[in-house]
Amino acid sequence: MNSFSRASERVLKIPKSAIHEMTRLSKEIEDVAFLSWAKPTSGAPEHIRKAAIEALNEKLVDGYSESMGLLKLRETIVEKLSRDNHIYANPSQIIVTTGAIEGLSAAIMAIVDPGDEVILPSPTYSTHVNQVVLASAKPVFVPLIEEEGFILDIEGIKKAITAKTKAIIYCSPSNPSGTVFTENHLRQLAEIALDHNLMVITDEAYEYFTFDGQTHFSIASIPEMRKNAVSTFTFTKTYAMTGWRVGYLHAHEELIPQINKAHIPFTICAPVISQYAALAALQGSQDCITEFRNKYKSARDLMCARLDRGLHIH
Ligand SMILES: Cc1ncc(COP(=O)(O)O)c(C=O)c1O
Repeated sequence: MNSFSRASERVLKIPKSAIHEMTRLSKEIEDVAFLSWAKPTSGAPEHIRKAAIEALNEKLVDGYSESMGLLKLRETIVEKLSRDNHIYANPSQIIVTTGAIEGLSAAIMAIVDPGDEVILPSPTYSTHVNQVVLASAKPVFVPLIEEEGFILDIEGIKKAITAKTKAIIYCSPSNPSGTVFTENHLRQLAEIALDHNLMVITDEAYEYFTFDGQTHFSIASIPEMRKNAVSTFTFTKTYAMTGWRVGYLHAHEELIPQINKAHIPFTICAPVISQYAALAALQGSQDCITEFRNKYKSARDLMCARLDRGLHIH
């Protein structure tokens, strides 16, 4: 018996994180270009930090908030969803989460039963796979069509559906492929979901970081999807707030109390200081988003140009 013999089957099924291992190995070599964490290069804008300091000084952050999050923040999120995602919601359809990740975990736990199958267009963000495994469900991978720029394989998804399929989880813009799934494809995906009564769980962490005229489309903006979509978002990438651990999810009003039952044992509520910072992020100038997007675009262009010249492996 090894020292992990008392660990659960579900955690034993999860391999050691490759990204953490890569980080460790990269530190052993000099002059390595570190490209593994999607970490914004600059910190959160000044007005966001200031709001957090003010909330701290006013002693607003020492207690828990409502588990679903501060009402004012959820009201402001509702405005953002309507403005930028064409999702028309009310505050009782929003849960403020500890990053998008905790929202995804809570949503998966609320939707998926042990033994259910969950379709993941792949390659995808490995955390989603682990979240499915933690829920004792089975990840079913449907490869993106690489030859056409890692687009969704709509026919492949249809073929992968069985009587056990419960949900489809995707991130768009995609980590790691960078593909932005088109509105046309997402509408087709929605049709499939509705035909088979599947839930679609989205990770829209990179919603603002699209380039070359591509646009982000939220599947929950399709009115017929209102009962079949759970959409997760985050402040992490948009406002360079990786460490603040604050995001949110949107779902149908009837599903929210069920997701909240999973959210509470994971986290009770999102960090309250970060909720005040998130409120300032949404209420303040949005110029930083354009700034970050431009910065990421120049980094992307530089990296693609270098990669096109060929890699030199030492
Ligand atoms: C696709 C994707 N989703 C979610 C996250 C993490 O989001 P959060 O910090 O809001 O939990 C990342 C972080 O790299 C990511 O790449």
